[in-house]
Parts: sequence; structure tokens; C-alpha cells
Amino acid sequence: AELLGHSSGDIRFTPVPPNKEDALRVPDGYTSAVVARWGDPVTADAPAFDFDKQSAEAQSKQFGYNCDFVTLFPMGANRGLLWVNHEYTNENLMFRGYTTGAAATEEQIKIALAAHGGSVVEIERVRGTGQWKLVTNGRRRYNRRITAQTPMRFSGPAAGSDPLKTAADPAGRTPVGMLNNCSGGSTPWGTVLTAEENIDQYFVNGDKVPAAQLPYISRYTITTGTPASNRRFDRVEERFDLAKHPNEANRFGWVVEIDPFDPDSTPVKRTALGRLKHEAANTTLARDGRVVVYMGDDSRFEYIYKFVSKNRYIPGNDRHNRNLLDEGTLYVAKFTGDSPATEIDGSGKLPSDGAFDGSGQWIPLVSGDRSYVDGMTAIEVLVYTRVAADKVGATKMDRPEDMERNPVTGGVYVALTNNTNRTAAQVDEANPRPSNKHGHVLEIVERRDDAGEKTFAWSLPLICGDPNDPATYFAGYDKTKVSPISCPDNVAFDRDGNLWIATDGNQLGSNDGMFVMPVRGKERGHLRQFLTVPLGAETCGPMVTPDQRSVFVAVQHPGELDGATPDKPASHWPDGDQPRPSVAVVWHAKGQKVGA
Ligand code: FEO
Ligand code: CA
Ligand code: CA
Ligand code: CA
Repeated sequence: AELLGHSSGDIRFTPVPPNKEDALRVPDGYTSAVVARWGDPVTADAPAFDFDKQSAEAQSKQFGYNCDFVTLFPMGANRGLLWVNHEYTNENLMFRGYTTGAAATEEQIKIALAAHGGSVVEIERVRGTGQWKLVTNGRRRYNRRITAQTPMRFSGPAAGSDPLKTAADPAGRTPVGMLNNCSGGSTPWGTVLTAEENIDQYFVNGDKVPAAQLPYISRYTITTGTPASNRRFDRVEERFDLAKHPNEANRFGWVVEIDPFDPDSTPVKRTALGRLKHEAANTTLARDGRVVVYMGDDSRFEYIYKFVSKNRYIPGNDRHNRNLLDEGTLYVAKFTGDSPATEIDGSGKLPSDGAFDGSGQWIPLVSGDRSYVDGMTAIEVLVYTRVAADKVGATKMDRPEDMERNPVTGGVYVALTNNTNRTAAQVDEANPRPSNKHGHVLEIVERRDDAGEKTFAWSLPLICGDPNDPATYFAGYDKTKVSPISCPDNVAFDRDGNLWIATDGNQLGSNDGMFVMPVRGKERGHLRQFLTVPLGAETCGPMVTPDQRSVFVAVQHPGELDGATPDKPASHWPDGDQPRPSVAVVWHAKGQKVGA
């Protein structure tokens, strides 16, 4: 599966060394600036942020917490709409004296509901630079907050089905809010796809649902008790109590499509894409023009999915395109190694053919009202997708996070962040390390480089960790010249096809960061650290602008360290005061391409 090509993208910067600083560190010659912080006004009527006087009303108009996926919808060269996911909340860092959801004030719980979701903010370039700033004057006509309380609708084959019906919505068509939106993607027709991930954290009394529902509650690891860490949203909205509203959990765990250019539009949960702990939803086009969406399910031993639309994308035909994600086939991936099992011995050593690699297939699960899974209806496959994938022999992966197609090579890359639960008996060629602390990156090359195909070749170009560790692999590149990397989470590409990787949960003892690695030519495997984030933070994004003059990074949960509180913060980024999750932008001071 080696991808050959011409030289890859002029990556020349000097890597940022691993560190434990409470700072956003960028390479020499680069500058960074914060674009939007938790609490910054989004809508024109939003009040200024006041940490000690926060209210739910203010939060519903201000930038939310824990920014994750970031994408830009350009409006010319110097303006654009920035979409940002707000995945979850750290109440213990947001509120002084916070202990548990059970003890929280109702206002604090309402603030948390309003701090989830996403933001659309208009941004403009600082002329002649790679810096972007929030538009803060009166216009802001697109600016919008989506929260856990925003009215939405279901579309696709499972809309209106029994498992989606509740007392508040007996038709099963109008869910309220979105939760734990982690990564995402955008569509060729200019909308955002945002992926609901760890939706299990928000419900109580999972053990009090009807007996027939218990196996599904458990397969989605929805709590059967009420642990101290639960946010207790049920205290302000009864729907989060599954004893009373057992189907409410089925209304989360979807890919949500939002039109950033229409602030009055209703977000749509697209049921044809299945229900799982969705990490990402990146699109591409098959050779014949059908739309393909790649998706990971980020938990240990979960699966990799893709959706292929029935109909073709027609440029400019908005009415047609906006229904494309409602009809199509959902597939799950099976990976087969090409080396003898005895050579996949858990040491991390390459097998004798020189690569962890092999072939694979996309196994169909459901297509419209047709189920391909024995004993499950099409509706059941869509609502309980994990259960369906269990039945068809899909490959259990080491936490599939972001997944995206390289626009230059056509290769599809998946970040497999880690899986310390995999035992030596459970290794396979696609997940070759037991107790996989540092994760790896998977490359898929579909047949004829066509995203619409059902078979593929695959290999592992990157097996993460300290390069001095013999069980690491950097696509065969000289390991004395690469940066250490641990726990790849988000991936993105620049227009030259270089792979950008953001990490979450570095197990090498340093802060998380962002990396860039060419994937073709002589520089394939030459991984370099582009930035490091402040103490306790996870790195999200990355997003390189189409002109390659700016890279956006979401700094999620700065200061999220054991024992940290507002009275004893573990980070003071970005203002020298309480930590605030923020989106920042990095650019070359002399206007060169990022990475140069
Ligand atoms: Fe929210 Fe899988 O990261
Ligand atoms: Ca092999
Ligand atoms: Ca993630
Ligand atoms: Ca991505």
C-alpha cells in the first residue's frame, strides 16, 4: 500500500521539543493568537464573560466549553464562518466549590447544558497575515449557538421509528439538543457534520429501563447506576432520567448536520449514518459522485464505519444534495492481515514481510429499510449499530478516533488512539500491540482508489511512542530524526497532502500537541511536532486553511489535572487567570506556508 509520488510539501520547520509548560508553544518563526475563548460573546446580544457571575442565559449566547472539531467555511479570502464543537464540560473547573451533580445548583446544571453543543462565529483575517479574529461588531448575522437544548429533527430511515419516540415527542421526529460532539466533518454542499460521541455520561437510572432494552443500554455503556461524576441533567430536565423516559438515550449518538449559513435552520440528526459513539464524519466523493462518510466509534474494541449514499452529489443542486445523507448503505470494516499469526507476536516487531498490512472489506449492515444482519430489523441496525456490527465479524480496533481521506493521495487515515485493555492473546495485524498505550495510525487504500468500493488494502504507517522504543514505527523513516508522539486523536490534511495529527492523553510524560508528517515520497514518516498545548489540555482541530497560511488548533480542557479547582488552577492559559478552553490560530510570521 506504499503511496509513491512527487515530493511532499516542503516541511522544514524545527520541531517543538516535548515540554510541560503552561503555554501554547509553536516553532521558531511562527506566531499564535487566541481566536475564541470559552465565554466570548457569540451572538450580538451576548454579555461579556464573567467567571464568577456566569449564568445559563449568558452561556447560551457565548462560546461554549471544551472546543473540539473546528472547520472553516470561507466567504472570500479574508472572511469566513468558523464552526466549533463544544464536546463536554468540566464543572469542577467552571464553578468554585463544585463537588457533584447531585450537589450542584440548578443554574450550574443549566449552564453546563448551554455550554455543550457548537458555535458558528464569523471571523476575519488580519490583513496580510495568517491571523484570524472574531468579528465583534454589530453584524454577526450568522453567529449562532447550538446547545443541548436546541430543537432538532430526525431524518432518514429511523426517523419516526418506535425506539426514537418519547412522551415529549410521540412521533419520534423532534429530538432536543446534541451532546458530546467530538470531531466532525463538512459536506461538499457547505454544511457541517458534527458527531455525538460519549453520550452515556448524561443519563441516570439506565438499570430501570424495560428488560428488553437493558442489553442495548449496556452495549452503549450507559450507566446503570448514578455515579458521583454524573452531571445530573435529570435534575433540570426529566428526560435524562431513563426510568421515566427510557428511549431518550436513543435520541443521542448520531451525526448531526447543520447549515452554518442559515442561523434559523433546524439541525438534523441523520439516522442513516447509524448510532454509535461517533468520533468523526468526514466526507469524500466516490468516483461516480456518490457521497462517502467515514466514521470511527471511539471506544476500546470498537469499529470503523463508512456510509455510501445511494444518489450522486450534483454540484449546485442544493435541494437534491441535502437529502443525500438520508439514503444509502452503512458499512463496517473488517481487516485481514497478510502475515502468519505467529509473526504478530505482541513485541511490536515488524513481521518478516516488513509491514503490518493486509487486505480488508466493507461489510454492509443496512441500506434503507433492508437489513443485512440476521435477527435485526433495519431500524434496529440503525439505532443499535454496535450490536449489528458485533454480529457480522467486523474487526475490533484500538479506539478508532478521527478518520479522513487524503485529498492528494486518496489514502484514508484513521487515528487509533490507544487500547491498554488489549491482551497479548487479542493482538491482530491491524492492532498488533498488547496494552497499546501510545496508539497507531492506519492507512486504507480502497480498490482503484475509489471511496465507493467495498474492498481495500491497508497498512500501519505509524506506530506511536518514543522513537527509541523498538516497538515504534515511523513508516521506515530514520527514527533518530522524528518527534515522539503518543495517543493520536484528530487527523487533517493540508492541500499538499501532509498528514496533521493532534494528540489526546500523551503517555510519554509531556503535554499533548500537534504534529505533521508527509505520507508520500522520501519524507514519508518524517513526523515533526508543530506545537504543544498548555498543561492538562488535549489538542483538537487541526484545521489548515485552504491557502495554507494558517492552522487552527482547539485547546480543549486546559488545566484538567487531578485536584485542580478554580481556587487552585492547574493552568492559567490563555489569560493568566482561570483556564479557558479556546481556539487559537498559528501562522508563519513571514507569511510562508504552515509547516515550511
Ligand atoms: Fe472525544 Fe474520541 O475523543
Ligand atoms: Ca504483513
Ligand atoms: Ca477526539
Ligand atoms: Ca479531522
